[in-house]
Amino acid sequence: MIKRDHTKPLADIRDLKVHFPVFGGVLSHKIATVKAVDGITFSINPREIIGMVGESGCGKTTVGRAMVNILKHVAPDVEISGDIHYHLKGKNINFVKDSSAKIRPYRSDIQMIFQDPYASLNPRMTVAQIVSEPLQLHTNMSKVEQKERVGWLLDKVGLNPEQARRYPHEFSGGQRQRVGIARALATNPELIICDEPVSALDVSIQAQVINLMQDLQDEFNMSYLFIAHDLSVVEHISDRIIVMYLGNIVEMGKARDVYHHPRHPYSKALLSAVPLPDPTRKNRKRIVLEGDVPNPMNKPSGCPFRTRCPLAVPSCADAVPPLEEHAAGHFVACPIVR
Ligand SMILES: Nc1ncnc2c1ncn2[C@@H]1O[C@H](COP(=O)(O)OP(=O)(O)O)[C@@H](O)[C@H]1O
Ligand code: SF4
Ligand SMILES: [Mg+2]
Repeated sequence: MIKRDHTKPLADIRDLKVHFPVFGGVLSHKIATVKAVDGITFSINPREIIGMVGESGCGKTTVGRAMVNILKHVAPDVEISGDIHYHLKGKNINFVKDSSAKIRPYRSDIQMIFQDPYASLNPRMTVAQIVSEPLQLHTNMSKVEQKERVGWLLDKVGLNPEQARRYPHEFSGGQRQRVGIARALATNPELIICDEPVSALDVSIQAQVINLMQDLQDEFNMSYLFIAHDLSVVEHISDRIIVMYLGNIVEMGKARDVYHHPRHPYSKALLSAVPLPDPTRKNRKRIVLEGDVPNPMNKPSGCPFRTRCPLAVPSCADAVPPLEEHAAGHFVACPIVR
């Protein structure tokens, strides 16, 4: 078992904003801004699993990429503000404001598992190379030690260590995601960002992969930020759930409170769309959301949900509603349902 410091929050995200400038015209100047993440604040405790849900385009992947510090690689012009504080190895690090030299030794503590196991693994590398790459980058293990560790990791994720010489295309989707998980685990991270890790997989194997991830979390004592677009995937494994809409957090609380007693009109609509038969929800009316998520380049003024909200009143256009504690530990960004 790995010993970790459990006395402080592991991650503390304060007013995080991630804006992507859009360039156009003959002189290629900035013509608009995509406000992908627009001022979010939350924390993750050691060993905690946070489920993050919201429709496609709400900013979930962008939050994950900011937290593993890869946004600048994906989009060099990105504008990031706020704070991503981590408490790692007894030190406080800020992934937004500290220099890359200061951040570098801590990058291996935060890992990400990507949505698409077909696209996220380099097809020209063997499984052994894929899984050992973080060990080469972040540790001074010898080749022999790396090989041993790769075999051990493959076994942990339910693959045969003999398969280490094979290439990703020789595996099924579920097996590839297991390779991605082994790679993420290689450096004993404190936090893994799981970006819709099962949504590209067959329904029949989704549960196996989620069960594996749950067992590994238990054994390795790490935290997860588990991103999904529907609540049913995260309900059972999460300690707390965050609901995102158009770059903002609209609701946050203990998983059972958000799942059984959602308060924000958007969370209610998301939950009413979950097709699973659940006796506690049989009296819940299905709420059909009209239209799509608006473009984050033209966010509505005031409450971002007001263009689709069945309860909207004129004052909803005035200001972005703050997240307020409506019940113990249960935060909601809507003054109308208070
Ligand atoms: N590199 C990028 N450049 C410009 N816009 C981006 C980039 N990445 C994401 N976006 C935009 O940011 C918004 C949020 O995207 P994303 O974080 O992928 O949402 P989600 O994961 O919830 O589907 C979307 O409107 C998306 O088009
Ligand atoms: S603030 Fe207004 S528009 Fe926003 S969720 Fe509440 S009622 Fe709906
Ligand atoms: Mg995404």
